[in-house]
This record gives sequence, C-alpha cells and structure tokens, in this order.
Amino acid sequence: MTRILAIETSCDETAAAVVDDGVFVLSSIVVSQEALHRRWGGVVPELASREHAVHLAPAVRRALAMAGTEWSALDAVAVTRGPGLAGALVVGLNFARAAAVGRGIPLIAVNHLEAHLHASWLASPMALPSGHKPDFPVVGLVVSGGHTELVVMHDWDVVEVVGRTRDDAAGEAFDKVARILGLGYPGGPAIQAAAALAPATTSGSGEPDARDTLTRPWMRGNLDFSFSGLKTAMLRQVEGELHGNGTPVGNPSRLAEVARSVGHSSAGDDAARPVTERTARLARAFQEAVVDVLVSKACEAAVMYGAKEVVLAGGVAANLRLREALIAACPVRVRVPALEYCTDNAAMVGAVAYRQLLRGEVSGQGLDIRPNLQIGER
Ligand code: KG4
Ligand code: ZN
Repeated sequence: MTRILAIETSCDETAAAVVDDGVFVLSSIVVSQEALHRRWGGVVPELASREHAVHLAPAVRRALAMAGTEWSALDAVAVTRGPGLAGALVVGLNFARAAAVGRGIPLIAVNHLEAHLHASWLASPMALPSGHKPDFPVVGLVVSGGHTELVVMHDWDVVEVVGRTRDDAAGEAFDKVARILGLGYPGGPAIQAAAALAPATTSGSGEPDARDTLTRPWMRGNLDFSFSGLKTAMLRQVEGELHGNGTPVGNPSRLAEVARSVGHSSAGDDAARPVTERTARLARAFQEAVVDVLVSKACEAAVMYGAKEVVLAGGVAANLRLREALIAACPVRVRVPALEYCTDNAAMVGAVAYRQLLRGEVSGQGLDIRPNLQIGER
C-alpha cells in the first residue's frame, strides 16, 4: 500500500489530501477562497497567494488528522507544479519541498490538468478496487476555468491533445456570461441555478422558444472549440433588450458599457439580485449551447479514436446538464467525477502522483513551478 500526501494551490482553493494507492481518499480538505474573490468578480492573484500561505499548513494538519495518519506513514508528498497562478503555485511547492526533505520522502510534481483527468477514478476507502481501472483508449474532456481540452488517453501517462479552445475556456465563458446577466461569481453554478428556474417549455410545443436558441459555434471539420462568440451574442442580446427594442444594437464600443450596466463592475452584489424569468431563459440558452457543443465534440472524438470510455474532468464537469447530456449521448461508457472532485482538490493530485511514483518519476529539490504547463508535460 502506498500512501501519499497531496497538495494543491494552483488557483483559489487551498487543498490537501491523503490518498492510498492513487484511488482511496482517506481525507480531502479544500479551503475555498470563493467568498474573498467574489467581491472582485474573479480571482485576484495576490490575494490568492496570501490566503494559501495562511491556510495551507492547517489544511495539511487537518488532512493528516482526518486520515488518522502520521507523517511517518507517508510514502511521498505530491504537489501541483502547474498550470496555474505563479504566486499561488509557489506556496504549495515550497511547502511540499520542505516536507519531502524534512521527512526524507520522495517529492512528486503533478500537472494540474492531468490531475483533473484522474478525478473520476477516486473512491472512498470502503470501495472495492475493481471497476476503478479505465479501459484505454479513453477520450477525456477537460473543462475548467482556465482550460477546455479534448484529449485521448492511450495510457495513464500517454495523453494526446486532439482539440482545444481557440479563445475562452468553457468555465471562463460561464463566468463572463454570469457577469453579463448579473448573476455573480463563480458563474458556472450561478448559471446552472438560474437556468433551472427557466420554465420547462415556453412555446407549448415542448421545444424552447426560438428566441431562446443561440447559434452554436461548431467549428466544423476539427475538434476545437470557441466560446467568445457566445459571450458576445449574450451581451448583444442583453444590450438589445435593455434598450427596449428587442433587437441588438450591435455597436461593439457600447458593449463594455452595457456589461458594466448589467453587473460587470458590481459582481459582489449580484448574488442578492432576484433572477427574472428572462434572465433564467437566457442562462438556459447559453448553458444549452455550451453543453451541446461540448457533448457533440466529445462523442465525435470517441468515435474517431475508438475510445472505450469517455471521461469528464474539471470544474465545469460539476454542471448537471453537461453530465446528463454526455451520459445520454455518448456511444460508450461515460465516467464523471464525484461532484466534490470536479473543482480543484488535492485528492486528484494524489491520484496522478501514485502513477508517477510507480514509474519512478520523482523530483529533486531543484523542482520549480511551471505556470504554463501543458497536458502531456510534467
Ligand atoms: O477546475 P476549476 O475548479 O478551476 C480551474 O482549474 O480553472 O474550475 C473552475 C470553473 C469556474 O469557471 C466555474 O464557473 C466552473 O468551473 N464551474 C461550473 C460549475 N461549477 C464550477 N461551470 C458550470 N456549471 C457548474 N455547475
Ligand atoms: Zn482546476
């Protein structure tokens, strides 16, 4: 049995976990900074680093205590090396490096995006190990605040990127559109909640009103994505309706002003605002468009690469509509992470680290952060 202490500080969650054999999560502590960043409408890097410095050591202590383990029972320390915010990554990496040298155990550097891809195979300590091995090749859809990537996993450590966003990441699009609609931060959960308030049908025919349907950015002929057009379409829709004539004004120079007028600069107050039926319908229209494109491309990739499974990963994997639509549409088995392992956590870092340890991929004390690390790099 191999027991790993894992640490994650790449963005705005301070996380520590103890994971056995890369699967069994003995503890997973996540200290979220969401409330702190909410008033700024997004993550403020300097604040994030400061908070990690305050909360990391207590989070590690709690993770060890909850797992009922001592430092002496640990086989390795793992930490996210990148991608992420430089100042935030440094806090976790320095802590892990000091712990590894202090305790004389191996240090393992993890790619945050690969960690997300491993989250679906995590289990509680009571689970049986069978059923927790993927059947390769696996097509993975990584959808987070900073990334949207479609990959083929030929093996745990052979990951090929076959599609990516050309502009905004899926989570970033959710966050920006939530601001346009005055729904607050973080945008993904806010849009999902608002969309759920939209009436089931608006035309009486069982189909959503045509007014609620946004043109999908299909990017035909490849597996890439583009979400910035959807964001602009939403902005124009809101702008048009704000001006009372129901038709988009279409003057780009006015867009920033309209964005501000619908909550762009006062995101902190948005959550308190009641959601109107129109806002709910716009939120649903946006969510449907994003989900439609993500699901179609993931299924297309599964067929194209002969995948035996499709795995969903990253913060946007928490979206219930996306989970449901992918499971319904995919021709092969779909794995989705437990909700608690969709957004940033350290258990997923422990999962990847275990595979790396088995392969002897251990880092020296010269290890440094890699804020721009890509999938496939370590
Ligand atoms: O993976 P993550 O925690 O951080 C990054 O590595 O980026 O992902 C955060 C992103 C945010 O953009 C957030 O709005 C989105 O995941 N998200 C969601 C949902 N929950 C979180 N997006 C859509 N629906 C959700 N339920
Ligand atoms: Zn993440």
